Amino acid sequence: MARYVINGGRPLRGEVHISGAKNSALPIIVASCLASEGETVLENVPHDGDVGTICLILRSLGVELWFDAKGRLHVKGHTLKAHQAPYNLVRRMRASFYCAGLLLARLGKAEVPLPGGCSIGSRPVDFHIKGFTQMGADVYIEHGFMKASCPKLKGINYFINRSSVGTTINLMIAASLADGTTVLENCAKEPEVVDLAIFLNGMGAKVRGAGTDIIRIDGVEALHGTEYSIIPDRIEAGTYMFAAALTGGDVVVKDIVTEHLRSPMLKMEEAGIIIEKGDNAVRVTAPNGLKAIDVETTPYPGFPTDLQQPLVAAMSIAEGTSVIRETIFDRFRYVDEIRRMGADIKVERESAIIRGVTQLTGAPVEVTDLRAGAALVIAALAASGRTEVYGLEILERGYEGMEAKLQGLGADIIREETETVTDIFSQVETINL
Ligand code: UD1
Repeated sequence: MARYVINGGRPLRGEVHISGAKNSALPIIVASCLASEGETVLENVPHDGDVGTICLILRSLGVELWFDAKGRLHVKGHTLKAHQAPYNLVRRMRASFYCAGLLLARLGKAEVPLPGGCSIGSRPVDFHIKGFTQMGADVYIEHGFMKASCPKLKGINYFINRSSVGTTINLMIAASLADGTTVLENCAKEPEVVDLAIFLNGMGAKVRGAGTDIIRIDGVEALHGTEYSIIPDRIEAGTYMFAAALTGGDVVVKDIVTEHLRSPMLKMEEAGIIIEKGDNAVRVTAPNGLKAIDVETTPYPGFPTDLQQPLVAAMSIAEGTSVIRETIFDRFRYVDEIRRMGADIKVERESAIIRGVTQLTGAPVEVTDLRAGAALVIAALAASGRTEVYGLEILERGYEGMEAKLQGLGADIIREETETVTDIFSQVETINL
């Protein structure tokens, strides 16, 4: 258990390096175990909690993997042996369900816990399961697990009900070793889907059309290890861009792909943020403060749901009233925490109505979900006084070295361990009766 202690009100200044994308690294690490020969070496893998968890899950399935001194991840995919993914690790994140596509494709059987509901609402996996079933798998749900078997998956034509990143990825993984051709329609077009396709093709797969509505995968007999570098994390980049603007700072956010941030950058500019675009970097300032804007989250290339929370933090001190509509998940539970810092936010169904205040004030707050954690931190950086952000284990699932990166930009932030149950009990007086 840990917390950040942040003394806000300091403009961020300097340069910040953006890590590899968590949401790309997770499926790529899983997909590397499709290989029946050779070793995969992955560069630019973020060292965050979710990546650590997926590594532990794969290791529990027999996979040999390790990080070298340069931080590159080596995976011997052919060492995959077991087909039962452990609940105690899988429960930590929904992306673990990618193991289902992998295990069915490589071992012909899979037992993977169903991801439960989470703090951003119900997140079913029905589209994934329907796809596996159509590919010929015999799927049933028992004791909270999805149990599936199929000696050899077959190619299918499948229309995904609603643009879903996870379904597109899971079925791409499953289809790579299937018998015949799979055509997925209404696919997610996120850069992480394209990254996975390029990686799979490097392993010998035949994937075409990633980044469009229709992805075609010609199944192959076998795949091999390869070397690959993960794309930069567009959500982390957007988060630091909002942090720079919110604190009235001047920050170069570097090692990014600016094209992946087109929609958020348009909205930032509408809000008065000045963005100077360079090669794989942007300089962000907001010398005249922020103006209220209206935004709706939509699948890529629209405004990402994972930047909705930092946007709400920014709009909390913008001039005027903003309406932010969330169309992907039930993702406004965290606003109670920002309200504790003086924000004026009302939630009506799927919209947050934010009346900008002149100043946020520090307060103790609790991280409710990964992206909300980032919003609380950047609100704290702009607030007057001291904020304690509790529940860092959730935040650290998806942001590599946030404390060090912010310190490098001049923020007054430290990380402290908080009390364990043993610590608490050691403070309770013991009376021998
Ligand atoms: C991924 C990202 C997450 C991001 C989200 C939307 C990863 C590891 N996570 O999550 O950061 O916020 O995309 O960009 O990449 N749905 C169903 N049934 C299904 C699958 C999805 O109803 O079987 C619904 C979901 O509840 C949601 C919508 O479809 O309302 C989109 O979800 P999806 O794109 O699948 O999100 P994830 O892949 O879970």
